[in-house]
Amino acid sequence: MSQASVLPSFRAPGSSEPVIKLAEARKTYKTGSIEFEALRGIDLSIAEGEYVAVVGPSGSGKSTIMNILGCLDTLTSGSYLLAGENVEDLDEAELASVRNRRIGFVFQQFHLLASLSAWRNVELPMMYAGVHRDERRARAVAALERVGLGDRIDNKPGQLSGGQQQRVAVARALVTEPTMILADEPTGNLDSHSTEEVLGLFDELHASGRTIVLITHEHDVAARARRTVHVRDGLITAEEASA
Ligand SMILES: Nc1ncnc2c1ncn2[C@@H]1O[C@H](COP(=O)(O)OP(=O)(O)OP(=O)(O)O)[C@@H](O)[C@H]1O
Ligand SMILES: [Mg+2]
Repeated sequence: MSQASVLPSFRAPGSSEPVIKLAEARKTYKTGSIEFEALRGIDLSIAEGEYVAVVGPSGSGKSTIMNILGCLDTLTSGSYLLAGENVEDLDEAELASVRNRRIGFVFQQFHLLASLSAWRNVELPMMYAGVHRDERRARAVAALERVGLGDRIDNKPGQLSGGQQQRVAVARALVTEPTMILADEPTGNLDSHSTEEVLGLFDELHASGRTIVLITHEHDVAARARRTVHVRDGLITAEEASA
């Protein structure tokens, strides 16, 4: 299967504005009467098509950043511009639409539905997007072929290895052809072989023009990205370009 049929390029013509722009981003969690400032003023710009790793110790705020970038949570103060639009101005329906159209999520725990076959899991985002049944199946199967699981489409998650389950999750993330992939510790539960498979997929997604934000605490995983952002105690402490 040719790459172009599943992964058309999404580089916006002539766009120089960053696709992601956090400015003075702060996030305070409230638990009862206790407040915790998880993000303490973050500035982060990511251009269309960039491959960026976010690294930092446990509790430093990585998943908080991911939830903000993915419009799963909102800032306490500061601003988040997504493709030039202030996310704060969007209502729930618009946010859901942004998540569905623009963003593909990959999580450490795969988040697959155990009772559904691989292709049924992959078709789910298209059901929310209102894609016709026959097209859903064709695209789900194509996405699974794309991640090397064309012979496993009828297997349920429990019948697949961890690496294969994560590849199903990657297929699900890219089946709606999102411009951006947000991955939170996608290799955290994988052995080195499966890690390599998933990172190889990300390399290909990057080559096809996707914007990728990869959250990890493993430095050799981060080294696959073109830029690494270091987070500590809710602040960006350093940024470096990879060789
Ligand atoms: N819903 C919440 N309510 C209260 N505190 C929270 C909430 N979510 C996260 N926190 C706190 O905010 C801080 C940052 O959490 P976050 O999940 O972003 O860290 P992380 O860098 O992803 O860590 P890990 O590497 O362990 O996944 C932590 O101290 C955490 O306890
Ligand atoms: Mg986390």
